Amino acid sequence: MKKIEAVIRPNMLEDVKNALDKFGISGLTITQVIGCGLQKGHTGVYRGQEMSINLLPKIKLEIVIKKELLEDVLEVISEAAKTGQVGDGKIFVFDVVDAIRIRTNERGRNSLS
Ligand SMILES: Nc1ncnc2c1ncn2[C@@H]1O[C@H](COP(=O)(O)OP(=O)(O)OP(=O)(O)O)[C@@H](O)[C@H]1O
Ligand SMILES: [Mg+2]
Repeated sequence: MKKIEAVIRPNMLEDVKNALDKFGISGLTITQVIGCGLQKGHTGVYRGQEMSINLLPKIKLEIVIKKELLEDVLEVISEAAKTGQVGDGKIFVFDVVDAIRIRTNERGRNSLS
């Protein structure tokens, strides 16, 4: 099993959610977060003034999947979340040691679907 943590623009959430839904993702967790990347949260020019805000609102998606789905899910997320501008976000991938569906005690990959 793999875990994907994707930090995306809040206004891309709907598109990403729809794309993941279409792909058949069975579970996910979404958190409102603040963060910064390479640009340290700079937002560029706003109403004629250079704005420099250190932390920008983002959405973090956490998804645990069977490992054979990893590349497809990475592609689904990056395609749906991309504008081509700085600040589109980042995706981190982790190994997952175990998982439990509490209701049934199913373990590992069986707990996912
Ligand atoms: N190295 C990192 N570790 C943890 N979170 C990160 C890291 N880099 C980016 N993030 C998170 O991702 C969000 C979006 O990052 P962002 O897309 O600006 O990355 P970037 O590396 O600056 O790429 P770009 O140049 O396209 O903007 C940040 O606000 C932050 O929440
Ligand atoms: Mg950036």
